Amino acid sequence: MQEQRKDEHLHHAEQLYHSNHAFDDIQFVHHSFTTCNVSDVSLNTSWANHTFKTPFYINAMTGGSAQGKILNQKLAQLANQHDLALATGSASITLKQPSTLDSFKIIRQEAPKIFLLANLGAEHPLEHIKQVVETLEADAIQLHLNVIQELTMPEGARQFDYWLENIQHIVQTYHKPVIVKEVGFGMSQETILQLKQAGVKTIDISGSGGTNFASIELSRHHDTTYMEEFQSFGQSTPISLLESRPVQQDIEILASGGIQSPLHVIKALALGAKSVGIAGWILHQLHHHSVTQVSSQLTNWETAIRHYMVALNAKTTTDLTQTDIVLGQNLAHWCTARHLPWQDLSQRSS
Ligand code: FNR
Repeated sequence: MQEQRKDEHLHHAEQLYHSNHAFDDIQFVHHSFTTCNVSDVSLNTSWANHTFKTPFYINAMTGGSAQGKILNQKLAQLANQHDLALATGSASITLKQPSTLDSFKIIRQEAPKIFLLANLGAEHPLEHIKQVVETLEADAIQLHLNVIQELTMPEGARQFDYWLENIQHIVQTYHKPVIVKEVGFGMSQETILQLKQAGVKTIDISGSGGTNFASIELSRHHDTTYMEEFQSFGQSTPISLLESRPVQQDIEILASGGIQSPLHVIKALALGAKSVGIAGWILHQLHHHSVTQVSSQLTNWETAIRHYMVALNAKTTTDLTQTDIVLGQNLAHWCTARHLPWQDLSQRSS
């Protein structure tokens, strides 16, 4: 049942893949002089007590089925070639069906040195976290928050009131980095503050605009159309980043949700993300191209990111947070309605 669900997620995510326009509402101000040469640029970034050579990573997707194993092998090969962090898909299936472990363990076999995040839902007790991280030889745990997805699944969870307390307990007792993520519905400043107060140091705001789990679950269950309005629920990735800006000094923010181009990565970094997670785009590329072809696309992304940084006079990824940005009407309206600071964005370099 769970195995079949995993394959259906892969199938529907690819079927529903679409362009993301949420980042179009952000424009950089172009200045004609730069003090930065291509060779000056460093793509380094740090999060979860680790320094990475590239400011993007492969986000949680799969494992738990034969198809998931093949995809995890390909993802691990990509992560290995580009030294990217990689998150497994939810490993909860391995707790009930240990026979599925090989579909996850393939990642460490293919990529012995990458920074690997094991993924579980925020409802899991500490023993599960320890077991999964140890078995998969992961460096960190990534806990997902997926209330909307659960509600749109007839077989989904209906009790959520203990999640935050559970996260707090895990963060206080577990010695490895704990990253808390959404699954494509974004986060509010209030959620981020709650997680901060619970002791969480790294958060992936995973906003809307890309993979939409309400749409995926509706495609799986045609009798739940009464829930179809959940498809437009949640905050986009740019909005979630703007929500996070007031607390970015105190907490590491990662961005994901609809990242489909190097410019999306640059815009997310400019709004304060430490790094940027990609899921649906990679799945889509691997559906149509070989690992070698997708690997050269990722090399192109790295080059493009470097070139955008030169154009934006940013030698480091942190320098991108000093670039001048103009928000379009939708984002500006959201910031005004939510009393979020945004006027400073258009004149940060002066
Ligand atoms: C996901 N995502 C996900 N997230 C998670 O925390 N645990 C999981 O098991 C999964 N499974 C999963 C399967 C598939 C097929 C996709 C495409 C995605 C969510 C993912 O990590 C990410 O948060 C969202 O997909 C938004 O990013 P993209 O896809 O728009 O880049």
